[in-house]
Amino acid sequence: MGVIDFGRFEHIVDVGGGDGSFLAELLKTHGNLQGTLLDQAHVIEAAGALGVLPEVAPRCRKVAGDFFKSIPTGADAYLLKWILHDWDDGKVVEILRCGRGAMQAESRVIVVEHIIDPSGAQPIAALMDLNMMVVTGGLVRTSGELTRLFERHASHIHPWSTPSWLQAHVLELSSAPGAIARSSEPSLNS
Ligand SMILES: C[S@@+](CC[C@H](N)C(=O)[O-])C[C@H]1O[C@@H](n2cnc3c(N)ncnc32)[C@H](O)[C@@H]1O
Repeated sequence: MGVIDFGRFEHIVDVGGGDGSFLAELLKTHGNLQGTLLDQAHVIEAAGALGVLPEVAPRCRKVAGDFFKSIPTGADAYLLKWILHDWDDGKVVEILRCGRGAMQAESRVIVVEHIIDPSGAQPIAALMDLNMMVVTGGLVRTSGELTRLFERHASHIHPWSTPSWLQAHVLELSSAPGAIARSSEPSLNS
C-alpha cells in the first residue's frame, strides 16, 4: 500500500475487489478518499456479511456487477489487483476496454500483478503462472506481454518501484499524455 500514494486520488474503484478488505484499509488510511467496491453479486453479498467495511461505510459504495460489461464511471483511480492474471489476452482487453469507457481523461488505472522474469529469477511468479493456467486458464505475463496489452489503452505506463519481498509489480496507466506524476522510473524489461 505504501508503494504508491493513494492519497492524491478522490475516488477509487476497486475492480474485482473481493471482500473489500484492501479497499477498507485504503479508506481508513486516506480519510478524504471515496471508494467503490465492484465484484460479482455473491461476492458483494459475502463482503457485507464479513463486515470489513462498516467503519468506512459512509465513504464506500458496494456495486454488484460484471467488469466485462460495466465498470462504475467517474472515479479518478481504478484498481486492478490480482485480476488480469485470471484471464487470457482477449478477456484482459475486454476488461481494459470497459475500464477505459468508465474513465475520465485524468483517471489512472493501477495494476498489481506478478511479472514473469524470463531469467527465472522470480520462482513465485512462475508458480503462480502454473496455478493460473490450471485453475483459471489465465497466465502470469512478462512485462513485455503486459506492456503490449496496455499499449492499446494507455498513453503512458509508469512502473512503480516495489520492494523485492513484495513479489508484486505495480503499474500505473494513464490515458493523458505527460499528465502522470513521476517519482522514479524503473525500466520495464521484457
Ligand atoms: C483473484 S481475485 C482478486 C481479489 C482482490 N482484487 C484481491 O486483490 O485480493 C479476483 C476477483 O475478481 C472477481 N471477479 C471475477 N469475475 C468478475 C466479473 N466478471 N466481474 C466482477 N468481478 C469479477 C472475483 O469474484 C474475485 O473477487
